[in-house]
Amino acid sequence: MNKALREAPLQTESSETLDPKNWEEIRAQGHRMLDDMIDYAANIRDRPVWQPIPDEVRARFRSSLPRQPSDLGDVYREFSDFIMPYATGNVHPGFMGWVHGGGNAVGMLAEMLAAGLNANLGGRDHIPIEVERQIVEWTRQMFGFPASASGIFVTGTSMANLMAVLVARTAALGRSVRQHGLHDDGGLLTAYASTAAHGCIAKAMDIAGFGSDALRGIAVDRSHRIDVAALRQRIVQDRADGRKPFMVVGSAGTVDIGAIDDLHALSALCRQEGLWFHVDGAYGALGILSPTLAPRLAGLENADSIALDFHKWGQVPYDAGFLIVRDGDRHRDTFAAPAAYLRRETRGLAANSPWPCDLGPDLSRGFRALKTWFTLKTYGTEKLGAVITRTCALAGYLEARVLAEPRLELMAPVQLNIVCFRYRAADANRVNGDIVIDIQESGIAAPSTTLLSGELAIRAAIVNHRTDSCDIDTLIAAVLRCGAQRSAAEVGVLLQVEQSPPLAM
Ligand SMILES: Cc1ncc(COP(=O)(O)O)c(C=O)c1O
Repeated sequence: MNKALREAPLQTESSETLDPKNWEEIRAQGHRMLDDMIDYAANIRDRPVWQPIPDEVRARFRSSLPRQPSDLGDVYREFSDFIMPYATGNVHPGFMGWVHGGGNAVGMLAEMLAAGLNANLGGRDHIPIEVERQIVEWTRQMFGFPASASGIFVTGTSMANLMAVLVARTAALGRSVRQHGLHDDGGLLTAYASTAAHGCIAKAMDIAGFGSDALRGIAVDRSHRIDVAALRQRIVQDRADGRKPFMVVGSAGTVDIGAIDDLHALSALCRQEGLWFHVDGAYGALGILSPTLAPRLAGLENADSIALDFHKWGQVPYDAGFLIVRDGDRHRDTFAAPAAYLRRETRGLAANSPWPCDLGPDLSRGFRALKTWFTLKTYGTEKLGAVITRTCALAGYLEARVLAEPRLELMAPVQLNIVCFRYRAADANRVNGDIVIDIQESGIAAPSTTLLSGELAIRAAIVNHRTDSCDIDTLIAAVLRCGAQRSAAEVGVLLQVEQSPPLAM
């Protein structure tokens, strides 16, 4: 040990602990925080959905390293004044951008309990691991997977998809790929997903070392569902060209418009062709909890692996991504890596192997399972399924409002909980892009945009359990108002151009 460390004074009273001298003070502060966050959720409608961050607020978060302590009350005031008001806004029922879950109060409380336990779910024998295994078991039951299935919490579906690519790779090439790398055979492995699949799948192919070109983008039909015949043809062609097809990724809810691929047909094709069948079910897979939607997910039960997020339609606070793999041995083959310092025992704290660190890249892992366990137990899956059904009904309501309004145009069939539409205008892409930013900045609602065949669409993904028909009405009114303003501004510019004298040549 170095001299300075050896000679550092050893205090007898634990003066270097981070525990408070006065627990009552922190208890009172904690109660205030809890009350404030409950008020935040209860009164969320009183707030703007989102608001731009003033420069001086942003500048506060460019300060230098705090070497000296601060009073907790002061730090909390900074949170209340400068962090809480400038969050994403997805707790708010008017938030309809991207695919963001709304969270829930029970999950929020569970996060505090998890932080209190400060459990590390990489492994070892403690009950938090059993709670995670309980969620694995419940997820297994939801999707009708066999008892041999295994699962693990991860950050989100991007990570779960990457891990699924790695499991499929190991299944195709054998465990030795982990030692020797991809080499010639591995370089020929080819995966397939529709052109509507989420970009994280191409990214997963890139990170896994195949390169994103090794993912074939297969054409979709009008409803954005993968063209299974085209997929079959491409596999045949690739085989003839010496490639090695190994994996098909089906989408259960595409990010743009919520299309569900024909999972039944994909699973049959994969079985015939000996390919790994993975489903990106980021938000759509939990549609299995809705009796109305479940039949549309037929075939999901045959998947080799499913990626999903409890933090989207499951309403669990961020983050709570999940990967379930039909054959647990394949899953462990991909990630388990023995190490002397992680030696397993049959009793004591090092018992209870295999550990979650054998199922993914992370060793240190938080207790994501607890907020999911609280959410599933407190509300029950029937209630969560009813929430999912309702978000789709609200999307149907928005679709009807768009169809009834001549100034608006529906841009894609509404299949789930996502509605893509736009305000009719001469320069529609620019006008609609501006409309979305105007609405976001107004704090009234928060839709996002997407491009459908080069046309910019206003995209409303209704995921939040708090969203109601009044929020849909508010969105429509805002689009019409901002659309009229933007179009008027456009006409004004055109008139100015027409009226201005010709430029001298
Ligand atoms: C279909 C789909 N796949 C993957 C993802 C990525 O999930 P995450 O953001 O949890 O990584 C999303 C995100 O919205 C998605 O909609």
